Amino acid sequence: MVSTHPVKVQPSGNQYLSPSQDSTNISPNQQLLPLTARVNRDDFLEIGGCDVTKLVQQFGSPLYILDETTLRTACQQYRDTFKKYYKGESQVLYASKAWNCLAVCAIVASEGLGIDVVSGGELYTALEAGVSPEKIYLHGNNKSRDELTLAIESGCTIVVDNWYELHTLVELATKDSAIRIMLRLTPGIECHTHEYIRTGHLDSKFGFDPNDLEEVFAFVSKQPALNCVGVHAHIGSQIFERQPHRDLAAVMVQWLRDAAKYNLELTELNVGGGLGIKYTESDDPPSIEEWSKAICEVVQEACAAENLPLPKLLCEPGRSLIATACVTAYTIGSAKTIPDIRTYVTIDGGMSDNPRPITYQSVYRTVVANKMSAPLTETVTVAGKHCESGDILIKNASLPKTEPGDVLVVMATGAYNYSMASNYNRLPRPAAVLVANGEANLILQRETYQDIIRQDCLPERLK
Ligand code: LLP
Repeated sequence: MVSTHPVKVQPSGNQYLSPSQDSTNISPNQQLLPLTARVNRDDFLEIGGCDVTKLVQQFGSPLYILDETTLRTACQQYRDTFKKYYKGESQVLYASKAWNCLAVCAIVASEGLGIDVVSGGELYTALEAGVSPEKIYLHGNNKSRDELTLAIESGCTIVVDNWYELHTLVELATKDSAIRIMLRLTPGIECHTHEYIRTGHLDSKFGFDPNDLEEVFAFVSKQPALNCVGVHAHIGSQIFERQPHRDLAAVMVQWLRDAAKYNLELTELNVGGGLGIKYTESDDPPSIEEWSKAICEVVQEACAAENLPLPKLLCEPGRSLIATACVTAYTIGSAKTIPDIRTYVTIDGGMSDNPRPITYQSVYRTVVANKMSAPLTETVTVAGKHCESGDILIKNASLPKTEPGDVLVVMATGAYNYSMASNYNRLPRPAAVLVANGEANLILQRETYQDIIRQDCLPERLK
């Protein structure tokens, strides 16, 4: 007898692949795997035309694998959407705190983006990568004199955060040329991932208090050493709504109007970053185009209402530009089953290469690169190898049956993974490879034990 019940097909790792259509139309931040992810004839995962298991054999494990196509697509979508919907000039900056290294800076800059840096180290890297200083913006709520000096000498724009910094800049200024600055203000719009609130006084360590606005404008307008070109604000990260940024853009246009009262002609408006990405199936962020379009429209409407000329419009996304472009490949080692409680499957990395789960309880999805169509029959806890009970990468991961040597791939690790990585337990930091068209290039070398002790000093009397 033929059963009338439909056969229940168990999901496999293939469920996370993006639909195979023209990848340039897909917004990377709405996918889980990089746009070039495919399954080959051996049922193995390929990214950028490279077999992930072979990459691990060649470059070692754990390994950050960065897909150039996905990163470039996100850059192009931001850049082109601002060009399409904004009638004035625009400049997208990459918030490089998400992942700052020479190769990433060079790729992003080659797509015409500028770079937002938040320290001397990030600034130095961007300059060494050949990024033009006119497209570099230095942030930070406690920039050192050294950092400010490097920024002034290189000619990048400094986003001034507070009164102390304003006074320091006036001191550091030379007669040769005025220092190019923007002012960071706290807009009174606070974002949480699924809600936002408006407050008069926002409890944030960043930026000038909005109540100081007029005083700051008055001060800056009297400083010939400072060339103030605009205002900046950033309201949060991993945001799924469009309304908070719409409100922000409208508030910021009011600031431009207020500045005009002090004869400050501000020509740049930077709305920060914050667009969210898909870490799990249930995450549903707007696309890069939807987010960017909303901002362009509000700024244009508000400027028309105030009869103000259109400023140069800047934004500085980090996560939504790079998170989805990268996966981390690990090798599975030991496992431990506690009957009626759980099974731990352990990988060869953990909180040192991805501190987000232990820091923010972030949730990630995973596939087994060498078993892509195998049914997901197991529910396990993926544990890191650090001497810390909280070093759990993924709770209740759905996996096929695994064994030591399998290659576990964690998705969407391009943002705030390598950049927040540490050497906890003296683990060397992983290598990173850039993949494109079947070619893999090393962009970060794997640290060695020699690297681990490179900065150690052993005083003579201890030898
Ligand atoms: N601009 C400013 C001034 C920022 O502070 C940030 C992020 C961005 C732009 C970029 O925001 P995004 O587009 O990436 O959301 N470590 C945390 C995220 C911290 C974000 C800090 N600021 C995490 O792993 O989730």
